[in-house]
Amino acid sequence: MKTPLLTHPLIASYSEMSENERKFVLDTIATHKPRKILELGIAAGANSVLILDFLREQNLLESTQLHSCDYNATYYHHNTSNGYYQVKVAHGGGANNSLSGFLVQELVPELQNKWHLHTGGLVANHLDNIGKDIDLCIIDTVHSAPGEVLDFLMVLPYLSKNAVIIMHDLVFHIFAEKNSSICALLFQALQGRKVFPPFDEPLQNIGSCVLADLTPSHIQQYFRILNFPWCYIPNDKDLQVFRNWIVKHYEPSFSVMFDRFVEIQRKWQKRENPLKRATKKLLKKIIPQRFHPFAKRIKAKLFG
Ligand SMILES: C[S@@+](CC[C@H](N)C(=O)[O-])C[C@H]1O[C@@H](n2cnc3c(N)ncnc32)[C@H](O)[C@@H]1O
Repeated sequence: MKTPLLTHPLIASYSEMSENERKFVLDTIATHKPRKILELGIAAGANSVLILDFLREQNLLESTQLHSCDYNATYYHHNTSNGYYQVKVAHGGGANNSLSGFLVQELVPELQNKWHLHTGGLVANHLDNIGKDIDLCIIDTVHSAPGEVLDFLMVLPYLSKNAVIIMHDLVFHIFAEKNSSICALLFQALQGRKVFPPFDEPLQNIGSCVLADLTPSHIQQYFRILNFPWCYIPNDKDLQVFRNWIVKHYEPSFSVMFDRFVEIQRKWQKRENPLKRATKKLLKKIIPQRFHPFAKRIKAKLFG
């Protein structure tokens, strides 16, 4: 596979995957030859560039669609709004307020018109435009519960039979944030044939799963992951978007189950140590956002 962009300095500095992980994504596409790809959580767009370039090189641009979807229209490292998606410290160049996926315009502008970019809120807002029969979906979004589980449950009714799921940051809870283990939890729960690349043994940070034929018991299992403690409660608008989607695409029992889980999560959140809650609020208010990761570490030291 000839992919000189894989190691391009801009890709290397903006991609949140290692070179091996980026290659794993392309290899998985080469193996499964999907006709519709959905990339969920695109950040600067490093993978969007690589996938578009790969499709061009393989002469697949006419037969394969790449849809890239991000909650934030603005590149999240530059997004200074107070949304619940955390602003991280920028780790590359780029002008402030770049758009999510801005690398496509910077590195492969001639492929921009072959690219389907959808930004603004949860993927449910965009799925009717993206359409059904998604053959391969890369999920790389929040990394905190309920994040990826909501994303997966929204996408599930639009996947083709035996679609391939690629998930990244499966050991985020080891490298970054102890309580952020939702990627691992969801990936463990996926029913199907899993592939882990050999390069990151014994910790596996990326993997793919060819989903087994979907059964009612799989759907139950996927929904029940939502009864584990959440790291955040989505805002009311997103909860409503998700709920409406569930009502539309799943049995009524699942929206009942979801309501119950939200109720439990809210109770847990209320019971959370009031001192811890007050500190969280205060830190958010007084500390500039670029220092939030540092503040988080101090908070973890103080409260565990
Ligand atoms: C970890 S970064 C993605 C990194 C990118 N895949 C890469 O390898 O360079 C997470 C991205 O997900 C986006 N995001 C967060 N929550 C999301 C959601 N529920 N749906 C879609 N995108 C989301 C953020 O705005 C951010 O751009």
